Amino acid sequence: MKLSDIKKVVILGAGTMGQQIGFLCAMHGYNVALYDLSREILDEAMKRMEKLGSWFISMGRIKPDQLVDIMVRIESTPDPEEAAKDADFINESLPEDPELKARVFAVFNEFCPERTVFTTNTSTLVPSMFAEKTGRPQKFAALHFHDVRTSNVVDVMPHPGTAPVIVDLVRDFAKSIGQIVILLHRENNGYVFNAMLSSLFSSALTLASNGVASVEDIDRSWMGVMHMPIGPFGIMDQVGLSTVWTITDFWAGKTGDPQLKANADFLKQYLDKDRLGFKNMRGFYSYPNPAYSEQGFLSGERKTEE
Ligand SMILES: NC(=O)c1ccc[n+]([C@@H]2O[C@H](COP(=O)([O-])OP(=O)(O)OC[C@H]3O[C@@H](n4cnc5c(N)ncnc54)[C@H](O)[C@@H]3O)[C@@H](O)[C@H]2O)c1
Repeated sequence: MKLSDIKKVVILGAGTMGQQIGFLCAMHGYNVALYDLSREILDEAMKRMEKLGSWFISMGRIKPDQLVDIMVRIESTPDPEEAAKDADFINESLPEDPELKARVFAVFNEFCPERTVFTTNTSTLVPSMFAEKTGRPQKFAALHFHDVRTSNVVDVMPHPGTAPVIVDLVRDFAKSIGQIVILLHRENNGYVFNAMLSSLFSSALTLASNGVASVEDIDRSWMGVMHMPIGPFGIMDQVGLSTVWTITDFWAGKTGDPQLKANADFLKQYLDKDRLGFKNMRGFYSYPNPAYSEQGFLSGERKTEE
C-alpha cells in the first residue's frame, strides 16, 4: 500500500488523544472513523472535537469555514465491524493496558481488510508486547503523538517484526498530517523526547532533593543558559506532579535506587500538601502567574515561593 491509498483512518478510543489525533487526520483530508465503547462516549467526543476545532480557528490554524468540512469527514461508531469497513490505517489510543489493547486489535484484525496498517499511540508500552496478538505483527508499529495543540512531533517506533515498508508508510503518513517524524531504530522504553525529558527531571530532582540548590535556582539555571521560558520544575507542574511521582516511585521500586526513592519522596511532600501542579493551580509554583514567568525571576529579584 502507498500513502496515496490511505483514505480512511480509524481511531480506537475517543478519549483525550483519540479526539486530537482524529481531528488532525480529518484536518489533513482523511476520512476518520472514531471507535469507542458507547454512543454516549462518542457523542461527547464529537462535541469536544468541535471545540478543539474552534481552538484551531482561534489560533489561525484553520479557517472557520473549514471546520464544517473537517467535521463532516469524521464518523463515529461503537460497532467494530462498521468502523473497520474499508479501513486503511488504524491508530489506537485505548487505555494503557496491553491486554485491553491486544483484545481490541484482535477484534479489528478480524474485521479489517488485509491491507490495513495498525499503529499504537501507547506512551509507556513497547509494540512487541502485543504485536503477535494484533494478528498482523508485520503491519504493526507505534506511532506516538504528543499533545497536538502544542507539538507537531511524533515518534515512529517499529518492533523487530515490523516490515520495513510499513515503517516507511507510517512515516509518510505522519508527515502527511503535518508531523515532524522522529524514527526510533529499535524499541526503547521511552520515546526520544520523553527519554530526554525524564533524564532532565531526574537530574533536577536529584539536585533539589539533595539540597544542592533550590527549585527556583535549578529552573533559573536551565532558563538562563538555554533561553527557555520554563525550567524543569515548571515543566513538571505542567505534566502533573502525581504523574511524575508515580513514574519516579515506580522506577525507584523496580531498581531499588536510593536516589530515585529520595526523588520520589521529595515529590510526595508536594502531593501531601495537595500541590498537584498546574492542574489544581498549585505545584512547585502557583498559577496562573507562576514566579518563573514574572519579570525579575531570572535575575533573582523575585522572592522565592514557599
Ligand atoms: N494523554 C496523553 O497526554 C497521552 C499522550 C501520548 C500518548 N498517550 C497514550 O494514548 C492512550 C490513550 O490515552 P488518553 O489519555 O487518550 O486516554 P483516555 O482515557 O482519555 O481515552 C481512552 C478511551 O478509550 C476508551 N476505551 C476504553 N476501553 C475501550 C474498549 N474496550 N474499546 C473501545 N474503547 C475503549 C475509553 O472509553 C476512552 O474514551 C494511552 O495508551 C496513553 O498512554 C496519552
